[in-house]
Order: sequence, then C-alpha cells, then structure tokens
Amino acid sequence: MNSFPAWYFDESKMAGVDFEDVAQVEAYDCNQTSSTPEKEQALVTRLGISSKHTIIDFGAGTGTFAIQASLAGASVHAIDISQAMLNYAQRKAKTSGVTNIKFHQAGFLTYQHQDEPVDFVVIKNALHILPDFWKMIAFLRIIALLKPNGIFYLRDAIFSFPPTEYETSINEWIKQVAKPEGQGWTAKDFEMHVREEHSTFTWIIEEMLTRAGFKILELTSFTPAYTEYLCIKQLT
Ligand SMILES: C[S@@+](CC[C@H](N)C(=O)[O-])C[C@H]1O[C@@H](n2cnc3c(N)ncnc32)[C@H](O)[C@@H]1O
Repeated sequence: MNSFPAWYFDESKMAGVDFEDVAQVEAYDCNQTSSTPEKEQALVTRLGISSKHTIIDFGAGTGTFAIQASLAGASVHAIDISQAMLNYAQRKAKTSGVTNIKFHQAGFLTYQHQDEPVDFVVIKNALHILPDFWKMIAFLRIIALLKPNGIFYLRDAIFSFPPTEYETSINEWIKQVAKPEGQGWTAKDFEMHVREEHSTFTWIIEEMLTRAGFKILELTSFTPAYTEYLCIKQLT
C-alpha cells in the first residue's frame, strides 16, 4: 500500500456533482447522451481496440465505454473513485454478459496498477475534477501506465475560446447545451460545472500533455467548450 504525503490531493472530496449519491448516479446514466452504447462502440472501433489490447478507463462512471471495449474482446480496468458508480457499472456489465472488466475503486492520483503496462488509457468527461496542478500529476502517472507507443484518449469540457471572450463564450455554451428540467443537464448543472469544477483552456492541456511526454496526434474542438485529444506515448 502506497502512502502519500500530507499535502497530496484528497480525491475522495470530489468537486461538483456528488457521484457517491445513488440518485445522481442513476440520473447521470440517463442524462449522459454523449456516452451511449452506440457512441462508445464507435469510439472503440475508431481507436482500433480489440482482443489484443488492455485498456484503463479512468473515471469510468456507469461503465458504458468499458463494456463496449470489453465486448470488443479487450481486457479492461474500469477505475472510479465512487463506489456507487462502480456498483452501478458492475450491474450493467453483468447484464451485458461481459466478464473481462476489473473494477477498481481508486482515483487518477492514487490508482496502483498491479499488471503489465497497458495499450490504451481513456478518460472521458472526468479529468476536469482535478485542478490544473493535479491534472499534470495525473498525466505523469498515466504515461507511466502505458506501453511505449501506447495511446491516451482524452475528451472533456476543455475551453478553446480566446480567454478575453470567456464571459460570452461560457454564456453561449450554456445556452446551447442546457436542457429544460427533467430532460437532461440543465443550465444550473452547467453553471455549477464552471463555478465549482476545474475545466481549463486547451493551450494549458496541450502544454501539460507535451511536457508529460505525449505527442498529440489529433485534436478536435467540437465546440468552443468541448475538446478531444488523441495522444501517443513518445519513445524517449
Ligand atoms: C462525469 S462522470 C464521467 C463518466 C464516464 N467517463 C463518461 O464518459 O460517461 C465523472 C466520473 O469521474 C469519477 N471521478 C471523480 N473524481 C475522480 C478521481 N479523482 N479519480 C477517478 N475518477 C473520479 C466520478 O465518480 C464519475 O464517475
């Protein structure tokens, strides 16, 4: 068991939404339209994930991506700090009939990998929980988990708008994505995300990825507030 210094980040105190709350977990699974089985299956195919591969899914949530990677034959480590999320994901995996997912209650900054280095690390919609200093530490830990030429896929609320336009950009984003009460994430949910969680700018993420030792192969900002990165662990 690793011990961390007294100044180390406490991952059990999650910013924003409380994913230890079972009701929040169930609401999340309904509202998260960017993580449907079809979309996650398309991502598995796009990344070329197959039975040859081992995957780490950090902040795996309700397990939709982990299940699709597992259905493609990969061995999957689904890691989440929330036991309520893991319980939900385990039930979903059982219903889907998959058996090659190992579930771990741990965080980006505390997970201790007991197996060989992996082919892929995936983080979707979860890294924003860490402040920027700790995102950098997470990137250093992630690159150490990957094989040489291993792939890191990151997708999150990451801001590509010019900093001086923050006010109009955030207001526009919330206006575009917020749904009426009972139909998905509301304006209040997005307001809380910006106020209490730690989404940051693309240029900060890019500098951190590069300094950690990744080469960015693809970068797509779907909207000024939502970006994905496909990175490879550079050979040193
Ligand atoms: C918004 S959900 C995203 C779930 C999933 N990846 C998806 O795309 O639908 C964020 C997840 O990150 C988890 N989480 C929060 N803090 C974490 C940490 N420090 N380490 C790992 N997971 C964490 C939460 O419990 C939650 O399941």
